[in-house]
Amino acid sequence: MNPPASKATRAVRAAIESDTQHGAVVPPLHLSSNYAFAGLGQKRRYDYTRSGNPTRDALADALAELEGGAGAVVTSSGMAALTLLTQFLEPGDTVVAPHDCYGGTYRLFEQQSLKGLFDVEFVNQTDLETLRKVCARTRPRIILTESPSNPVLRISDLAAIREIATECGALFAVDNTFLSPALQNPIDFGADLVIHSTTKYINGHSDVVGGAVIAATDELAERCAYWANVIGITGAPFDSFMTLRGIRTLHPRIRQHEESAAELARLLEAQPNVGKVYYPGLESHDGHALAKTQQRGFGGMISFEIDGGEAAVRAFVENLGLFSLAESLGGVESLVCHPASMTHAPVSEERKAVAGVTPTLIRLSVGLESTADLVADLHVALEAARMAPQLSAVATAGA
Ligand SMILES: Cc1ncc(COP(=O)(O)O)c(C=O)c1O
Repeated sequence: MNPPASKATRAVRAAIESDTQHGAVVPPLHLSSNYAFAGLGQKRRYDYTRSGNPTRDALADALAELEGGAGAVVTSSGMAALTLLTQFLEPGDTVVAPHDCYGGTYRLFEQQSLKGLFDVEFVNQTDLETLRKVCARTRPRIILTESPSNPVLRISDLAAIREIATECGALFAVDNTFLSPALQNPIDFGADLVIHSTTKYINGHSDVVGGAVIAATDELAERCAYWANVIGITGAPFDSFMTLRGIRTLHPRIRQHEESAAELARLLEAQPNVGKVYYPGLESHDGHALAKTQQRGFGGMISFEIDGGEAAVRAFVENLGLFSLAESLGGVESLVCHPASMTHAPVSEERKAVAGVTPTLIRLSVGLESTADLVADLHVALEAARMAPQLSAVATAGA
């Protein structure tokens, strides 16, 4: 018997040669919205694409396998995956979420709690004592963790949060978008549910918006599949086809993202006009030691503080040639983002300050361009940022 294949190999081989009709090597794309019954009362495996589709199932199986789950549901976006998570909540239930979670997650929980659908507590989950106290008081139905968090890459202790979830009888859900299953498997640390925006590293080419919930048990997987169909948030077959294609290169992509990100983080840390650099691979990062215990790498995302106020932020983003000023992350192309005015715009100023989303915080999604080119590009933008406050002072004096 052949030895069990690694996850990198299984990602490449997912659903390869699964076509029984023609022996197609790559699984075919099934766009049909509906499936004929074999006869009256004789439903085949599939009847209607909202509830089930072979192409989407191939992606779901691959995701469940890569995350080590019992099953997965592919959704139309990462936010749809988080909406699916809220189906586990009843009025009066509490969800505990990170105080620095993705802005869209924050908005979803805040707005739905304002409608009375459930209660929410936003907590700094790196502070386990506070988290334990909040959970003892509110007895949450769900604890949602993002590790690393978006955008300052705080690392939360997954095993310790699992214990707290057990103490208060909560489901433990982890948004694993920032690392992908190539670098972290929250189910290994006791997560019940893993959330992904597959829009990011999993698809990896910035041409699909999608999401997934991976469940640790069959029972949770069935409940997710049931509710995804009820509320109509399952992903489209074409998007699933594209995302399955993306998954095949996930592991080598992540390796290259990380190699460049590590170099850029070190470069940033050495700059006189750069303040704090948030990259879990740096020894100076608060979560470095913890990240080494629960991650297989540090990923391709970096955030940092730039000196010189708004003029420096503007000069930096405008003088980059290889980083597009755009939201999202995890694609082959490098991106730069100003979280305060972009990804975290839905979050109140007060909460942004608490979460560390300052006006001078810049986030980079390091892509697959050559590392040397990215280094050279960053040098140009950093020099422009260094000069910017002086130039704007001269301009103001001359005005
Ligand atoms: C950590 C995290 N979770 C969820 C989402 C939402 O995903 P989507 O944009 O696919 O709806 C995002 C989007 O940026 C994210 O960064």
